[in-house]
Formats: sequence, structure tokens, C-alpha cells
Amino acid sequence: MYRTHTCGELRITDTGKVITLAGWVQKTREFGGMTFVDLRDRYGITQLVFNMETNAEQCQKARELGREYVIRVTGAVAERSNKNPNIPTGDIEITVDQLDILNPAVTPPFTIEENSDGGDELRMKYRYLDMRRPPLQRNLMLRHRMAQSIRHYLDLQGFIEVETPVMIKSTPEGARDFVVPSRMNQGQFYALPQSPQMFKQLLMVSGYDRYMQIVKCFRDEDLRADRQPEFTQIDCEMSFVEQDDILDIFEGLTKHLFKETLNVEFSGDFQRMHWEQAMAEYGSDKPDLRFGMKINCLKGADCHHGESGDAGTLLQTLPGQAFPLFAESEYIGGIVATGCAEYSRKQLDELTEFVKKPQIGAKGLIYVKYNADGTIKSSADKFFDAAALQKWAKVTGAKAGDLLLILAGKRDKTLKALGELRLEMGRKLELMDKNQFAPLWVVDFPLFEWDDETRRYYAMHHAFTSPKPEDVPYLDTDPGKVHANAYDLVINGVEVGGGSIRIHDSALQTRMFNIMGFTPEEADYRFGFLTNAFKYGAPPHGGIAFGFDRLVSLFAGLSSIRDVIAFPKNNQGRDVMQDSPAKIDDLQLDELGIRIVTSDE
Ligand code: AMO
Repeated sequence: MYRTHTCGELRITDTGKVITLAGWVQKTREFGGMTFVDLRDRYGITQLVFNMETNAEQCQKARELGREYVIRVTGAVAERSNKNPNIPTGDIEITVDQLDILNPAVTPPFTIEENSDGGDELRMKYRYLDMRRPPLQRNLMLRHRMAQSIRHYLDLQGFIEVETPVMIKSTPEGARDFVVPSRMNQGQFYALPQSPQMFKQLLMVSGYDRYMQIVKCFRDEDLRADRQPEFTQIDCEMSFVEQDDILDIFEGLTKHLFKETLNVEFSGDFQRMHWEQAMAEYGSDKPDLRFGMKINCLKGADCHHGESGDAGTLLQTLPGQAFPLFAESEYIGGIVATGCAEYSRKQLDELTEFVKKPQIGAKGLIYVKYNADGTIKSSADKFFDAAALQKWAKVTGAKAGDLLLILAGKRDKTLKALGELRLEMGRKLELMDKNQFAPLWVVDFPLFEWDDETRRYYAMHHAFTSPKPEDVPYLDTDPGKVHANAYDLVINGVEVGGGSIRIHDSALQTRMFNIMGFTPEEADYRFGFLTNAFKYGAPPHGGIAFGFDRLVSLFAGLSSIRDVIAFPKNNQGRDVMQDSPAKIDDLQLDELGIRIVTSDE
């Protein structure tokens, strides 16, 4: 027998039992005539003790053990004189009679402990060693428990798990496809699914009215902390439902997961926020509601201060002074950083640098310090008198001691920049507690996004999302105005999931393809199988997909999804452990009918 117990199991009540343990050597140390070994497996650590006086042969063997040797020991459980209250097995140790080395190990390139001394790249290269560490083991176990809990919950709700193919036809869904060449059909390619979207809709046509699948999806897009080229979705679809039915079921699932895994309970329903409100107040379609600091409009269509009599005079400059930035800007908005009036020059410069970063793109930052002593100091003092600055305080709610930060420019871009600035202030002021959870549904997204470069509309969610019935008349006249029956679940500023009610009418679907610039032939080539299927009786249906990796990392309090994936890719999309992607043999290329052309050929 390799083991009778695990290394996390034995307690003081087991004293006297003769047991066998197997695991990895965490560390050895000598103390007088004794040798102590910490033996580790994924359940914990147990101290082994070897005594030179009573068992010299075994003790000598123990002294030769290296880190990460795989061993088996048999001995008796004994009470420890020097107890360790920090570990569950800290009251006992094993007095070893017999030690067997099952496998020696070369010294690992970094320490295998709670906090390792290895850098990111090194730990990725030796991922199998990194995964021996407790933090990763906890993450993967959390992931496992959540997957079990999700399947159990959805099973009780009548969902069935159906596997959909991984080699499919390339169908655009926002990102680029990864493609797989076909040997038997040279010159032709499969694509890896960006999601099982069309298959789950076909399952609805087939009558499987509640489908779920925990499934790998593949997207060739730029990578970030919350994006991997292959990631996992909790993918679901339902028939004969409306938006509220879907939100109810999946809010139920989310609450169930929080309760079961974190023992967190939410009172009442998750907040629902219109997309437009999210953009206007938080400058983001995934607002982090753990803190307030809403955006206030000083100029533009979002302003509500007309009623307070400030309209018009709010931005009045001093006589003889013109402030072109404000005069020329379509939109001006500000956020109030509570208690930050004492920010130093350096701190304000840092914030200015932040908003000027290319990915944020603001031209500059205007600040107003409403000092605790009642004085006001602003970077626009030359243009505005104290009366004007007081009005800004009234409109934005800034109080004595607060700092008002203002950006101006094109509406959408400025709102997004203010959204980023809000998050930056949230981080600086430590307003984002990872143990607090603020979920909300963002609803009523626009159906289309206009792209200036290609001068065409793209589906904001995907091509199968239905328009709000009341907006259908605008489809031909002003597609930009049409809202979608689409929703996202957002928690702490992370887009955890998204879905929509689908179009089940093939004529409407054809109109949508047309607006997105697909010719009838193109639409037929790409989506013909789906539109055809819809002619045979498609039920009204809709669904949602959660990003499982994001959900797990949120539950684990982590900012990167890499740490909850066993074998992730790095930011260049590489698996540094396997060293892939990699070249393939000429023979393989020949069979596939593929020739690699380098750029200078
Ligand atoms: P969507 O594209 O919004 O919807 O994806 C659903 C959820 O998947 C997660 N996600 C990712 N997670 C990690 N890495 C990525 N590269 C990545 N891309 C997306 C996000 C996101 O909310 N078929 C539709 C769903 C539907 O309409 O039912 C879809 O895939 O958490």
C-alpha cells in the first residue's frame, strides 16, 4: 500500500496509530541527533522525525533526501513537543520506522512554497512545479468545486449538457478565428469555435429547450490579464423565454455559487442598469459599483443641471478671457475625489500623465481643489472666478476638502477617459475591496456599432441578437438608434457574462445581415445552415455565456485569469512550457498542401 492517509489528515486523536504516508519532501533539517522532514501532498504537510540513536539506518537515509524527492514512510503518530499552530497537522509528527525513496528529484528551479522565489516566466516554464504550490492548488480546487456546483444547479433546473464540435466552419463573432488545415480537403480549413453560439441555437431548433455546456472557446485576439486565447465558458441557451426569465435563472445560479463557495449572500435582486446610464455615469459598459464617484456632466447632452438655473452661466469665463478647450468641446465632465483637495503638484501631474496615455487619449486634466478652509484653487483660475467654480461644486456635489477632476472633448471618448480616471482614483484611494462584490446587469445595449474605418455597422454583441421590438422601425432608417435585447452580468468591473434574446425569424435575420453589409451570397455561405434551420420551426430562444475563468478568478480575489487555468498561455499567446506554437515537419506541411512563405520570398 502506498499510503493509508494523506499529509493533511492526521491529528492528535490519531496518536499511537501506525500509518503510511507518501508525498514530496518539502524540506529537511537536522537538530541534534534528529532529522526532521516536512512531507507534502496536496492535502497538507506532515512532519516526519528520524532518530539517529534509535534508527540510525533510516535516519542516515533521511539525511540524504533532497527537496521534492518522492518518498513513502511508515511509522507511528506521536504528539509533538514543539507544536506548530499554523498548520492543521501541527500537533503531531510521525516517528518513522521505514523510509522508501520512490523517486529522487533534481533540485527545482524555484522554491515550492506559498510564496515562491521564482519569476513569472520561470514558473510558467515549469508550470507542473508551480502547480505543486498551495495558491495554485487552492485555485484549481476552487475551480473544480465551482464547476461541480454549476452543473448540479443547472441539472436541477432541467438543463442538459450537450457537447458541440470543436472543428467548425469559420464564422465571425468579433475576434479572429484560429484555423485548422484539413489534410483530406486540401486548401480548406476548419475553425476553432469562438463560442458554440450557432450550435446552441440549432439545439433549440432541435427541441433541447435547456442546454448548458462548460466548454473551451478560442479567440485570436490581443491578450490581457482577463483574456486568454483559449478560455472556458459556461454556455447556456433556453427556449420559450424572455429576457427576464434568463436573468432570473442566471442570477439564481450566480447567487447559488456565491453562497456555496464563498458563503456570500445578496439581499434582493441584482441592480439592472441601462447601457446608456452606465456609459454616462461610469464611462464604462462594465461599471465597478464597489464605489460611487459617478461622472457629472458640465456640458453636453447628459447634463441635468438646467433645472437648477446654472445652464449657460456654469462655464462663463471672466471678462476678456476665453477658454478654447471648454468652448470647443462637445462634452465636459468631472468626477469628485472625496477628501483629495490636498493632492500635491506631483500627484496631480501623475494623474495628468495617466489621462494623457495613448490608450486613454485625453488632452489634459483640469482640476479644482475645494480646500477645507473654504478657498478654491484650480488649474483654470485664469479663466473662471470663484463664483463659477462654486457652481461647479454645486453641480458635481464637491464639498470642502474634495478634488474635482475635469476632462473635456468628444463625448464618447471623454466619458471613457473619465471612466478610466475614476478607476484609477478608485485604486489610489483603495476603494476596491476584493472581498466585496457588486454585481449588476447591464441591459439594453445598442444593437450595432459603427466603424469609421470600414464605414459599416457591426453587431455589438453578435449577428443573432434581436432588436428591441419597439426599435425595429429604425432598422432601415437609423440602425445606430436600435437597442438590443442583450445583457451583460458585471461584477466588480469585470464582464463576467453576456447574452441575448435571439432572432428566430429568418426574414429579420436576413435584414440584419444586410445592415451589417453581408451580400445575400455571403450571408448564405457563412450562416446558410442556421437560417435554413430556422425555416423548420425555430422556437423563440435566448441565452447567455459566462466567462468561467473570469468568474473563478473573481471568486479567488485574483486579477489575472492565468492563475486559475492549469496550463495557460503567456501574453504573446505562447505556451512557454511546451514551447508552442511551433514549426511542423515539411512532410506534415506537404500532406496538408501548405507551403510556408516567409516575407522576403
Ligand atoms: P461573449 O463574447 O460576450 O458572448 O463571451 C461570453 C463571456 O466569455 C468571457 N470571455 C473571455 N474570457 C477569457 N478570455 C477571453 N478571450 C474571453 N472572451 C470572452 C467573458 C464574456 O462575458 N456566444 C455569446 C454568448 C451568448 O450570446 O449566449 C458569447 O460568446 O466573460
